[in-house]
Amino acid sequence: MDKIRVAIVGAGNIARTAHMPAYRKRTDVEIVGVADINYERAQNFAESFGVPKAFPSIEAMLDEVECDYVDICVWNGSHASCAIEAAKRGRAVLCEKPMALNLEHALKMKEAIQAAGVPFMLAVPTRYSSQAMLLREMVDAGKLGDIYYAKTAYTRRRGTPIGWFTDTRKSGGGPVIDIGVHCIDRTWFLMGCPKPVRVSASTSYAIGEFKTRGVHRWAALDSDVTAFDTEDSACGVIHFENGAAMMFEVSWALNAPGESFTQICGSKGGARLDPLTIYGEDMGYLTDNKPNPGENDMFYEEIDHFIHCLRTGETPRSDLEQAVTMQRILQGIYDSARLKKEVEI
Ligand SMILES: NC(=O)c1ccc[n+]([C@@H]2O[C@H](COP(=O)([O-])OP(=O)(O)OC[C@H]3O[C@@H](n4cnc5c(N)ncnc54)[C@H](O)[C@@H]3O)[C@@H](O)[C@H]2O)c1
Repeated sequence: MDKIRVAIVGAGNIARTAHMPAYRKRTDVEIVGVADINYERAQNFAESFGVPKAFPSIEAMLDEVECDYVDICVWNGSHASCAIEAAKRGRAVLCEKPMALNLEHALKMKEAIQAAGVPFMLAVPTRYSSQAMLLREMVDAGKLGDIYYAKTAYTRRRGTPIGWFTDTRKSGGGPVIDIGVHCIDRTWFLMGCPKPVRVSASTSYAIGEFKTRGVHRWAALDSDVTAFDTEDSACGVIHFENGAAMMFEVSWALNAPGESFTQICGSKGGARLDPLTIYGEDMGYLTDNKPNPGENDMFYEEIDHFIHCLRTGETPRSDLEQAVTMQRILQGIYDSARLKKEVEI
């Protein structure tokens, strides 16, 4: 493999602001095409980033261009159809989080990807921050002992995104599937990815469609709000086969300060991110150590890891099995909230 040829589907925000800047830092990648159901958007993207050709659909793009992988940056409801199309044509897949709209879509993707035998990676960038990568190395080296408890939150006081995000037919849900996937996946990764077995969760629909003035809201490129039927906050606990538990709290809107944290607790020590702090003991005293892994561009690292795996045949850190397991957790959260009881995963 000389240059890696990438075909992008979805010419929206994440492709423009995170994936393209990461690709532009490399000389071993060629973006061979971009497709979007909004053809004008795909054309504009091609012009802005010097991509040779724009297409109105993934099918038209894959009919015409040869590529090593398809980078899926469409809204959640289109992840499955795009991934299945790419797999059917023997193309590897890098898929934005969450894997899919729901578990049913995710399982169809898994079937197609396994049948085609193509590489797959879920794009979960927060795993690739320098702090998270160092902490996972420390966990793997046994520095914290057995991890038996974790707590994570990604809460916004007022931050419901505008556009398809609030329409479950396109998004699959609210903050659980949109930003919860970031913090829950990262925490699970730091715990060493134990097997989830049960979840108990609750979702709220209280204040998400707020009219608060003076607050910033992320807007999809199509910012017309077609529906608003998603939760605006959620909390719960995920139990794992090894006895460990993870508490989580997520919101797009909550009458509480916004926060983002991840904490894991082990038998020998604990840790928190942002900034990375290790809670331990030395000479009989408590210690708070702050290792400094430096700053990195997590989107660059994520894409770099996938390209490394394509070149070497290594299995990506966030592979198909892990992506499906994460989707099972998300589904379990929604099922538990709907049924108002703990559910098995
Ligand atoms: N990793 C992160 O931090 C992060 C941040 C934001 C969004 N995302 C994810 O990236 C994805 C896109 O989000 P966004 O904010 O860029 O949305 P966006 O609305 O800005 O862009 C999505 C684009 O996909 C296009 N599209 C939808 N279905 C399509 C299909 N079947 N074929 C071709 N084009 C199609 C739309 O026309 C739109 O241009 C979502 O899955 C979202 O969860 C990830």
